[in-house]
Amino acid sequence: MTEQELCTLAVKAMENAYVPYSDFRVGAALLTKGGKVYTGCNIENASYSPTVCAERTAIFKAVSEGKREFSMIAVAGGKDGKIEKICPPCGVCRQVLAEFCKEDFIVLLVKGEGEYEKYSLADLLPLSFKL
Ligand code: THU
Repeated sequence: MTEQELCTLAVKAMENAYVPYSDFRVGAALLTKGGKVYTGCNIENASYSPTVCAERTAIFKAVSEGKREFSMIAVAGGKDGKIEKICPPCGVCRQVLAEFCKEDFIVLLVKGEGEYEKYSLADLLPLSFKL
């Protein structure tokens, strides 16, 4: 699985986003160390706070199927499904990623057609809280 292939899966995952309140579609594709991919989308709710981000959908799908070792995630998002800039993970998703991923875990942020930026989890969440 190449970085670009994972980005393409994140873009594809935007299609299933349930976003009647924001119209902001997000897709994520999470690669396990064993080479399996779990995708996720954001799922909104009329009561707003139960809304879940695409990144957490992907990681919770994976963890609930017994996977706990991950190498990379790709994230894509945009209003009305149009990707005009990167969609960096929110603070809650960064903390959830930090629970399961090491500091060298790679985060790919889709910028446009065939274009992405590459960060480590340590770039996005320095000094993360750990018990
Ligand atoms: N959203 C994500 O899915 N991932 C993020 O990291 C940031 C925000 C979603 C939540 C909500 O459905 C929509 O984007 C607008 O905030």
